[in-house]
Amino acid sequence: MKIGIHDLDVATTHFVLKLDSMAEALGVDPGKYHMGLGQDEFSVPAPDEDVVTMAAEAATRLLSRNDASKIRMVLFATETGIDQSKAAGVFVHGLLGLPNAVRTVEFKQACYSGTAALQTAVNHVARYPEDQVLVIASDIARYAVDSGGEPTQGAGAVAMLIAADPSILEIEPDSGVYTADVNDFWRPNDSSTPFVEGKLSLDAYMDATLGAWDDLVARRGIEISDIHRFLHHQPFTKMARKAHAKLAEHLGVELGADLIEESMTYNRRVGNSYTASLYFGLVAQLQGNDDLAGKRLGLFSYGSGSVSEFFTGIVQPGYAEHLHADNVAESLDSRVELSFEEYRERHNAYVGSSDNNETEKVTDAPFRFSGVIDHVRQYEAN
Ligand code: HMG
Repeated sequence: MKIGIHDLDVATTHFVLKLDSMAEALGVDPGKYHMGLGQDEFSVPAPDEDVVTMAAEAATRLLSRNDASKIRMVLFATETGIDQSKAAGVFVHGLLGLPNAVRTVEFKQACYSGTAALQTAVNHVARYPEDQVLVIASDIARYAVDSGGEPTQGAGAVAMLIAADPSILEIEPDSGVYTADVNDFWRPNDSSTPFVEGKLSLDAYMDATLGAWDDLVARRGIEISDIHRFLHHQPFTKMARKAHAKLAEHLGVELGADLIEESMTYNRRVGNSYTASLYFGLVAQLQGNDDLAGKRLGLFSYGSGSVSEFFTGIVQPGYAEHLHADNVAESLDSRVELSFEEYRERHNAYVGSSDNNETEKVTDAPFRFSGVIDHVRQYEAN
């Protein structure tokens, strides 16, 4: 039985900052951002947007085309948790009006947990083939101002419906996994921004790429030439190029840049969306010029700390007719541009407390976060 991604959709934020504005304001050569990091702009949330509103937007579009009564689980992957106890997916479940007979859980392991959720969903469907699982990866990458990570910020959500006999991508059994206890990037409970060992994080990412690949080979006996296109987690798109080159060097083969090029189109503009980043790469690859029907994709998912996985999927015949995320370029184009000063003002005005507050009404997305009453987060349809 084939199991995999039957449908998928995305959402991002109301605002955008162009990295040219940041370069000018900070006196940095824009080439450092465009070529050095491979980033052009990043999504910035409005005060009434968060991981729940982005997730609900992506999922509501996806469910408008599918039968929600088949959904048996909602798995919400994020490292931008809004509560230490209640899963963010429960808010989404409520906003979408899903049936009560649903299991809803939050997954966390830095950027990797979207893939953990996806594999859990595949395993559920293997046991209960009539069921479908809604997997949502949603994150806001918010770094300290003037830190190395600031130009790599971003935000976005990808919702995926996992089912038997999928229309888009069959997830193949047997992946390569790799865990190593490393402090490259972490966010303690009392900090709204992460602590980052930048250079260590690049090395940890590349060690994990090779470790997960070697485990995939040991497990499956796969050859690098069996893979048609590679998609890597993209904290900034240059990272995918570095990992791709490292893999080629490790194996002593040529791996052309064309094997990853199309997967980077959206991430250059969204910025790092942590758990969603790999899946924005998947949407971009599927919407590229290449006919991928019957072809194998190799996906590398990395989460600092670190846990990673190299897995593969076969693109299904007719997938292009089932790709409805044709709103991506349009929603990126329609974001409202902030000046650098406006962006910094919003960044500094971030409210992380659960004291009573009412958010400024800004977003025109389908759902908004309206504030906090008696420590309870309030959401409403727009
Ligand atoms: P930095 O100090 O800003 O940059 O830190 P740099 O000085 O190393 O320069 C970056 C690149 O720009 C270099 O290229 C420069 O040569 C080049 P490279 O040597 O790497 O090929 N450059 C230029 N190119 C063209 N024209 C110019 C120019 N000037 C310089 N004028 C760093 C970069 C990545 C460390 C920083 O952005 C950072 O700390 N980012 C956050 C951490 C991160 O993203 N790490 C990636 C791996 S960890 C990961 O992926 C997990 C993560 O997503 C979190 C999670 O799992 O939850 C982050």
